[in-house]
Amino acid sequence: MKITVVGAGNVGATCADVIARNEFANEVVLLDIKQGISEGKSLDIWQTAPINSYDTRTIGSTNDYAATKDSDIVVITSGLPRKPGMSRDDLISTNAGIVNSVTENIVKYSPNTIIIVVSNPLDVMTYVAYLKAQLPSNKVMGMAGILDTARYRAFLAEALNISPKDIQGMLLGGHGDTMVPLPRYTTVSGIPVTELIDSEKLNAIIERTKKGGGELVNLMGTSAWYAPGAAAAQMAEAIAKDSKRIFPVCAWLNGEYGLKDIYLGVPVVLGKNGIEKIIELKLNKDEMNLVNDSAKAVKEVMDVYDKMK
Ligand code: LAC
Repeated sequence: MKITVVGAGNVGATCADVIARNEFANEVVLLDIKQGISEGKSLDIWQTAPINSYDTRTIGSTNDYAATKDSDIVVITSGLPRKPGMSRDDLISTNAGIVNSVTENIVKYSPNTIIIVVSNPLDVMTYVAYLKAQLPSNKVMGMAGILDTARYRAFLAEALNISPKDIQGMLLGGHGDTMVPLPRYTTVSGIPVTELIDSEKLNAIIERTKKGGGELVNLMGTSAWYAPGAAAAQMAEAIAKDSKRIFPVCAWLNGEYGLKDIYLGVPVVLGKNGIEKIIELKLNKDEMNLVNDSAKAVKEVMDVYDKMK
């Protein structure tokens, strides 16, 4: 199992570190355009192997895509992060160019790979990679839902004073302020969350989740990396191990949820073929309205990209 992570910034390096540490790949290639940075970070990560006791090799490459040849999975994290006051959508023109050229180079050397996009604006950058890669849609997906549900679950764990391990949650829609956390599909060890928390507190957590990325941008002056990197690594792990885990993932819809020709967050089964199944929840009218609003917001930015091309 060979996995490439493109972009050795905070998210890419964290992702490579988690992949290496969890030992489900023999080789992780970290590639960046900036001279020496990926070699340096991958060497640093490799030097944690004796301490953390794993044997995944981590290799760096300054923009030489030959090093990524025959990757089974590629995680694309390249692009600019947000600064305070910016929405993810503000990044579209710069990051679309970057994701386009990265994808072109990736499929040249790994024509059958599975691509996980992390760059923002996430849903649209996944679309950019999909158009460029010319791979079937089950092999091109975006990471957002695991991160957004992780934030939701972490906030709930804090509010309830319980282990985050026991909180299960589902969330649909785009990776932006219109995302749709679903209280009706949130449980704590099988107990509906609504039995444990009042609706006012739950609504406050939902609102905080929707702006969870922005909260961190405001604190740090740049966007988050520990949870985004770990979330992308978790998707790679499910694919690498063919474990058929169910996660919210940014997927190409072809009629599911009444939506078509759009990348949007939905629950999927992840296995060796990438997205092996899209799960259609039986949403009520209010939930479906929120998903439609989110789809509309994503589609508007997709249209911006379509006009840019
Ligand atoms: C975030 C960025 C990665 O939500 O989109 O933190």
